[in-house]
Amino acid sequence: MAKDNKKEDLMEKVVSLCKRRGFVFQGSEIYGGFAGTYDFGPYGVELRRNLSNRWTNAMKSHENMALIDSSIFTAPEVWEASGHVSGFNDPLVMCESCHSKLRADHLLGTIGEKADEKMSAENLNIIFDSHRDKIICPVCGKKKFGKVIQKNLMATSTLGQFDKDDKEVYLRAETAQGIYINFKNVFDTGSYSIPFGIAQVGKAFRNEISPRQFLFRKREFEQMEMQYFVRPEEAEREYQDWKKERMEYYINLGIKPDHLRFKQHERLVFYAKDAWDIEYTFPFGWDEIEGLHNRGNYDLTQHQKFSGVDLRVYDEDKKEKYIPHVIETSVGLDRTIMMVLLEFYDEDEVRDGKRIVLRFPPDIAPIKIAVFPLLKNKPELVEKAREIYKTLKSEFKDVIFDDNGNIGKRYRRQDEIGTPYCITFDFDSLEDKAVTVRERDSMAQERVKIDSLRDFFKNKFNT
Ligand code: GAP
Repeated sequence: MAKDNKKEDLMEKVVSLCKRRGFVFQGSEIYGGFAGTYDFGPYGVELRRNLSNRWTNAMKSHENMALIDSSIFTAPEVWEASGHVSGFNDPLVMCESCHSKLRADHLLGTIGEKADEKMSAENLNIIFDSHRDKIICPVCGKKKFGKVIQKNLMATSTLGQFDKDDKEVYLRAETAQGIYINFKNVFDTGSYSIPFGIAQVGKAFRNEISPRQFLFRKREFEQMEMQYFVRPEEAEREYQDWKKERMEYYINLGIKPDHLRFKQHERLVFYAKDAWDIEYTFPFGWDEIEGLHNRGNYDLTQHQKFSGVDLRVYDEDKKEKYIPHVIETSVGLDRTIMMVLLEFYDEDEVRDGKRIVLRFPPDIAPIKIAVFPLLKNKPELVEKAREIYKTLKSEFKDVIFDDNGNIGKRYRRQDEIGTPYCITFDFDSLEDKAVTVRERDSMAQERVKIDSLRDFFKNKFNT
């Protein structure tokens, strides 16, 4: 497959910007890194929080939506009931030369062979064996592989395990199960009726065989999942409505429509009746950002069976009890962060060279306004600029004060973290009681009276 150098460059540029500006660091970096983990720095945390709030607010805009925060650890039976213990696997193959552990389906993909993690180990071995002479280890370049085995992705822990009879427990592999096991609690304690949804944002853990592509495939990651409980006869219509809503969500976020597409799953996971992904055009190709699943009544049925608790609800019209069906929307926060970094990264030529700019919409920008005194060593400018900073910070929160380096350098720094507005207090400001406001994308500057700054930004941010 021909490599798209421009796209590969973009990935490298974004990864380097993330480190340089404190968005994302390699996990355990001072110890040489820890595979599949990344740590978020100051601006990364703000971006994360803004994207997570945006998703939560979109869910909360539905009147029949409840939020929960369930535990990462659950009774082990949860994962037996859900089918994860027996069926949540990825195909592993070892390179016998360099001992790298690799995904067999990904290796087959490199030679254009279609295979996926849902195939049985037997079928994967048949395909793998018929192409062994062509498959090359991406780490050492040799062609010596062992057999393909299905490896369970659940991460385990000894939490609460003190002697040999105590069971090992699982870290949750998806946040969805925490929703199913709390379905009755929420339904019985709130004033909800079917259809209604339960949404949550939280960490999930998977023993990914080859974590890769920066934030795309991590071992510890965050999911934003919503399960919508519906009458069986309404499941299909609700599924179509949610598909439409979720695609519009990304377009409203500012992602170009031609950078997004729907893709239907060819092989369904054990729980799904129908499944579509929303894919984004990443530098390494189209790949999943969000999964939308019509899960039928599989999950609640399983939990009812394994727990012995009646999870049915009463249908007033039909005068009978039934197990609701579930429509799921599931997106990774880390993949969303990666998508917006790639989407809004831009470079343009300015008078003094190249400018790197993250053209974030204001509501996701980590910092909304940066306030500068023209010169650091003029107390009369610094004091007044600080006053403006304090006033705006109390109103708009994500506001910073910066007096490091010259104005040009400060603009570049703010452009690189995507700050939409910079304010400079200069000598004229002492006279005309106005400041220069510079807009990130157009670099246009205008004089705004200090007294009207609050309203000026309220209009800009629609608050
Ligand atoms: N509850 C359904 C579920 O977990 P999934 O397709 O396995 O479905 C949903 O995961 C979303 O979680 C994906 O679309 C992706 O955004 C995110 N995700 C899954 N595995 C991930 C990983 N290893 N690293 C980062 N994000 C991941």
